[in-house]
Amino acid sequence: MCGIVGYVGKQKAAPLIIEGLKRLEYRGYDSAGVAVLQDGKFVVAKKTGRVANLEQEATRHRLNGTHGIGHTRWATHGGVTDANAHPHVSSDGKIALIHNGVIENYVAMKKFLLEKGYTFKSETDTEVLCNLIAYHYAKEPAGANGDSRFVESVRKSLRHAEGTYGIVVMAIDAPGELVTARKGSPLILGIGDGESLVASDVSALISRTQNVVYLKDGEIAHLREQNFSITTLSSGAVSPVVDKVTWSIKDAERGDHAHFMEKEIFEQPVALENAMRGRFSEDGSTANFGGLNITANELRSIDRLVFLACGTALHACMVTEHLIERFARIPVECDYASEFRYRNSPLFHNTLFFAMSQSGETIDTLAAVREAKRKGYKVLAINNVVGSTIAREADGGIYQHVGPEVGVASTKAFTSQLLIGAMLALYLARLRDMSFSDGTQLVQALKAAPDLVRTALKEAPRIREIAKRYAHYTDMLFLGRLSLFPIALEGALKLKEISYIHAEGYPAAEMKHGPIALISEKCPSVFFVPKGEMLNKIVSSMQEIKARKGPIIAVVTDGVELPPALADEVITIPDCHEAVLPIVASIPVQLLSYYIAVERGCDVDKPRNLAKSVTVE
Ligand code: G6P
Repeated sequence: MCGIVGYVGKQKAAPLIIEGLKRLEYRGYDSAGVAVLQDGKFVVAKKTGRVANLEQEATRHRLNGTHGIGHTRWATHGGVTDANAHPHVSSDGKIALIHNGVIENYVAMKKFLLEKGYTFKSETDTEVLCNLIAYHYAKEPAGANGDSRFVESVRKSLRHAEGTYGIVVMAIDAPGELVTARKGSPLILGIGDGESLVASDVSALISRTQNVVYLKDGEIAHLREQNFSITTLSSGAVSPVVDKVTWSIKDAERGDHAHFMEKEIFEQPVALENAMRGRFSEDGSTANFGGLNITANELRSIDRLVFLACGTALHACMVTEHLIERFARIPVECDYASEFRYRNSPLFHNTLFFAMSQSGETIDTLAAVREAKRKGYKVLAINNVVGSTIAREADGGIYQHVGPEVGVASTKAFTSQLLIGAMLALYLARLRDMSFSDGTQLVQALKAAPDLVRTALKEAPRIREIAKRYAHYTDMLFLGRLSLFPIALEGALKLKEISYIHAEGYPAAEMKHGPIALISEKCPSVFFVPKGEMLNKIVSSMQEIKARKGPIIAVVTDGVELPPALADEVITIPDCHEAVLPIVASIPVQLLSYYIAVERGCDVDKPRNLAKSVTVE
């Protein structure tokens, strides 16, 4: 949500910043802007729409300076206009600022600043913070507090700011310096060779350096070409830890694929291999997780698990609930993180929390983590982004290890969450009463997942043909039972996210309690029809749809024979173990929604109004 890049070094800043913004566009793409300090003044280019528009605009401004900031916006306060785009410059021309987050008390601040003679061009909370920094900058004596006047004025302003922020600031009298600070919005420093960078995501830094510092909440960093220092909001010095990013720029590039989503769908076999690598015990009967930070005995004494997440990650939790209850026999509850944090539900003593989040930055999930911790509970995290806020604040956790996911619609991160959920179910079950041989069988089943996904992906050309026939519909239902019910929810979410077709997911049998009213020849249903005890019941639900002329796309496991003419389209996936089935069944619905969106001419990687990582409430 909002992408941020700042650069100070010897190169021309604007092209590097714009290059970084392109990599961050998935965080927001309502408007973009860049500001460079050159010849003693700020030169600002900003434009609504995509970074490509900004690129054209920037060439008109001849941005030559070697010190600048850039931003791609996901609008919160103020409409999508050039004026509301960042960077903002204070009305006295002294301070330039980019911001991710929401300053909640901006109305009171603005009143104060208007009285002091500051003026405003935009409707944003960001411009208010920018002017507040200018106000303190104008008042601050040089060299105050042993720190620069620049850092001190940012620190003073932030003490008054309520809400969330990740900011990068330039001051007119401080060429070659950036000040950056965070509370609730991610910021990462890039420590290069004779240059320093800051960004909201590693992918915008990685072409310049792999040495990074994850800034923590309440920290302020002062960046210069050759060095940097970090202090806290209360002005205490911090000893920074420099981490090395393990992936390279190539992992964040689209290659020959038409879209990141397509690339990431086809990467899934390898992503699953990476997520499970080194995580099975030597005797082949259970899973191992290095960073859980909880003893086997503690886990044996847990009576209840609560999973917190948002969006796609919540669907992965729901499948995990099914598998943990089935194999480990521990009661599990899944909750929308955004609801949990305010619901104040009664909690039991021996409860362990898990927070699942690809980005590790989703503000609702982070707030739920803090709420559970405040109440004295241990929280473990399942995240993809290494060093993310949730990963750091949790008591322990599991990384997904699938590399950067750029497409806004989650695919490889989702299936790796399903895999890790299944491995967790195995691990917990083996600590309780699952036998050695059942454990061994489950390990074998999980190890087969990448190849089963490879087989499922071979159906892509057929699914593309089906998508052409279904792209004109305006409504669709996704229906599944047991562990495939969350996959129905996920199928519906994927379709509406990227193709804007209204879609709903339901447990197949629940369909007759309401959604059946939608059924006609204009509303197709996608059914998950695996072999097994539920088969006949699912077929009955399909008959009920067919009797009302509803078109049916059936995703069947190999060997299922449907009554003639019941399904209009049949997509076959390999028959597999129930722990792996949700992973394999996800593939056709990912492909279906992808190809339907392409057929409708939608911008698959940047669906309207969405952002990959939602860091505002
Ligand atoms: C946003 C994205 C969704 C994602 C959700 C949770 O809403 O558009 O695709 O599932 O955030 O993201 P997380 O990073 O916490 O998994």
